[in-house]
Amino acid sequence: MDSAPENTLSTDQRRADIKSKIDGLVGEYFDLAPPPPDTECPLSVPLYGAGEVNGAIDALLTQNVTMGARVREFEAAFAQEMGSKHAIMVNSGSSANLLAVSVLAQTALAGHLQPGDEVIVPAVTWSTSIAPILQLGCVPVLVDIDEDTLNMRPESIDEALSDRTRAVMPVHLLGNPVDMDPLMERARARDLWVIEDTCESLGTEIAGRKVGSFGDFGTFSFYFSHHITTIEGGMVVTDDDELNDLARSLRAHGWSRDMSTRPQLEADNPNIDPRFLFVNVGYNLRPMEVQAAFGLVQLQRLAEFNERRRSNAEFLTEALHTYSDRIRLINEQEGGRSTWFGFSVITESAEQRTRLCDHLEARNIATRPIVAGNLALQPAFRNNPHRTIGDLEVATRVGERGLFIGNHPSMTEAQLQHVVGAFREFFTGDG
Ligand SMILES: Cc1ncc(COP(=O)(O)O)c(C=O)c1O
Repeated sequence: MDSAPENTLSTDQRRADIKSKIDGLVGEYFDLAPPPPDTECPLSVPLYGAGEVNGAIDALLTQNVTMGARVREFEAAFAQEMGSKHAIMVNSGSSANLLAVSVLAQTALAGHLQPGDEVIVPAVTWSTSIAPILQLGCVPVLVDIDEDTLNMRPESIDEALSDRTRAVMPVHLLGNPVDMDPLMERARARDLWVIEDTCESLGTEIAGRKVGSFGDFGTFSFYFSHHITTIEGGMVVTDDDELNDLARSLRAHGWSRDMSTRPQLEADNPNIDPRFLFVNVGYNLRPMEVQAAFGLVQLQRLAEFNERRRSNAEFLTEALHTYSDRIRLINEQEGGRSTWFGFSVITESAEQRTRLCDHLEARNIATRPIVAGNLALQPAFRNNPHRTIGDLEVATRVGERGLFIGNHPSMTEAQLQHVVGAFREFFTGDG
């Protein structure tokens, strides 16, 4: 039988038909992607395709674009993936950290952070792990890192404690997990809040459990180059109902709408229109539906992405081990499974690092320093209140001598060989 003429179809059927043609065309477009060059290793490559783009187009075509059903669906899927009770999506990993620290500073919360309180953080991390601590009037206390894992050691808490210590923010750096059980034991014994900055380590495990799910809060980034991407985006997870309520309110203007306590708050304020009832001093950190559409597809690909990151790292570790008398490779934390965000090496001197970076960059292998190096030396933090524990010798050394190269899930065998060849050439002069 002939298909119905177009003008006898309902508007919905015609739209579905057009959408299906768009889906097909987007698929065809991505199928024509050129193969990656064998002799390039960028820091990251786009890890999204037709599924993500079609999800985003769908969000745009339905014209439901501001935070709504897709964000809620992505939050539920993410919470399940993490084994956390609540997940609150925001517009970046930096916003996730800002939100977590801000919630802990709410006066409504028992034991809340107050101006002048100290928060223990590793000296090597990203700027916006530390920035919210200062923005909320608290004092970052920088502890050194372990040269083998690049992470803070749980014992550092003992050395950093003062009578103003109220929180600790372990950062799972470059995919490697912090040893969370001993850290949590110390934090709980001293009644410290714990925010796990997991922006570089989605899917990483320690002691059989996902990092980000141990503390009061775990924070995540979905920036373009991270384990999954929503272009820009982030997430906060927590098991605590009160922290969840406060986070949902602060994320969206401080209003009551997204809080489980909404009925009571409205009853307590009968003269204020419940649609615009503001109960906290909030921000606007909301994500968009297009970002959640990306996230829903990307989350399904996370396990496969992380397996690829792991096998690339295994290959590079084995191949570069030959030069371990001249460069230090990073060890996976004992009892943990890293997700290898980048592949890091520590050279013998700052001068050697410069030469190695130049050598790799000349061969189209992108390099970066080990995150922000020792943050106590960065102008933003050097010139603001902080305390340092010891001389932060390892953090400084890693900042001066460390570098990482890209490790992304779509690296080809030829690209991995290109990286190994470039190191061989550097150390032996043998191209
Ligand atoms: C450890 C860490 N925390 C926070 C962030 C901030 O995430 P975003 O870039 O999504 O704001 C990053 C960014 O890469 C990071 O590496």
